[in-house]
Amino acid sequence: METVVIAGLGLIGGSLARNIHMHQDVHLIGVDQRESTLEYALQHHIIDEAMTSFQEAASKADIILLAAPVSKSVELLLQLDSMDLQKDVLVTDVSSVKGPIFQQAAAMRSGKITFVGGHPMAGSHKQGIEASKAHLFENAIYVMTPVQQATDVHIDRLKQLLSGTKSTFITLTADEHDEMTGVVSHFPHLIASALVQQAKKWEAKHSFLPKLAAGGFRDITRIASSNPGMWQDIFFQNKEKMAVLLDDWIEEMQTFRSLLAEDKSEEIHTYLTDAKNYRDGLEPRKKGAIPGYYDLYVDITDQPGALQKVLAIIADAGLSIVNIQILELREGLTGVLRLSFAEQKMQLKAKGVLEVFGYEVKIQD
Ligand SMILES: NC(=O)c1ccc[n+]([C@@H]2O[C@H](COP(=O)([O-])OP(=O)(O)OC[C@H]3O[C@@H](n4cnc5c(N)ncnc54)[C@H](O)[C@@H]3O)[C@@H](O)[C@H]2O)c1
Repeated sequence: METVVIAGLGLIGGSLARNIHMHQDVHLIGVDQRESTLEYALQHHIIDEAMTSFQEAASKADIILLAAPVSKSVELLLQLDSMDLQKDVLVTDVSSVKGPIFQQAAAMRSGKITFVGGHPMAGSHKQGIEASKAHLFENAIYVMTPVQQATDVHIDRLKQLLSGTKSTFITLTADEHDEMTGVVSHFPHLIASALVQQAKKWEAKHSFLPKLAAGGFRDITRIASSNPGMWQDIFFQNKEKMAVLLDDWIEEMQTFRSLLAEDKSEEIHTYLTDAKNYRDGLEPRKKGAIPGYYDLYVDITDQPGALQKVLAIIADAGLSIVNIQILELREGLTGVLRLSFAEQKMQLKAKGVLEVFGYEVKIQD
């Protein structure tokens, strides 16, 4: 039986450990610097064996999964290179930035190590093993960044180990990955934090301001509540791409400022329309309220019984909902109800019947 070592049993390492333990016939060793995390993992049968020494665990491993913070995973890979390993080992990671670990992997001296980088692109604003879930990566994109020496055999072995996650695997270079995640993940995180900082500053003048921070502000800044330590690490590890994106953003804001100052209302309309069209054309998210289900967004008003009316229409049509969530509802304003269905045909049928009753319904949020 093969031995798999997961170093770093937090949200991501813990979720992968749960999944691998559930779907694969391997001996699973968990390594973490926190004793309490290891105890939790053993008590909840997430791993077969716990170790505090990475070196000891690595000496037994056929496959090693590095799931510590990005900079720590780079250090662990460096440590691995200096160990006297007895057998060949396939090493992967889950880091949100691929450049630094990839450079380290490409410079490895040990002939026993083959590195295939990985980034499961799903997460949560929570951290730690207590927040881990076996199904966290269902329908998520799982990026792989193999080094040149890695063969299809290595990549296929890793995909097989992770097959229970039900992720979609794609291969990118580390540079492509860091540039794209910089645009769609790292930079938006910075903007969310900056918006919150701005609101905090203006609160000094308007103490009532937080009470006005309703749906839109909360939605766009939700990610600012994620693990600050992890994001600090990500920003530094992806420093060069962040600098380019910052320059880009500053230039764009200056252009917008000039358009406003010069009363160029048509250009501003075009700018906003372009953004709307691009946003509306983005592929609907596969990960919904519950991963793998089909979501429907229904506009409702804050009237007594509004929710019951929608549910009655759905029930009368013989459709069953697997999850329901009110995304935004303020006094006197429209709110959005997210209904999740197990099958696409139910989602489409529900859309049809709700539209007959005059509801505004969207498949994408
Ligand atoms: N949280 C997300 O949304 C997300 C998504 C995809 C990838 N990632 C990546 O996953 C990695 C882990 O993030 P997380 O969200 O699971 O963080 P986390 O804080 O929940 O877990 C990190 C774990 O690593 C342990 N650890 C730290 N240093 C260690 C070391 N030297 N040796 C062994 N264990 C060590 C910590 O004790 C903790 O249990 C990061 O590289 C991050 O970029 C995170």
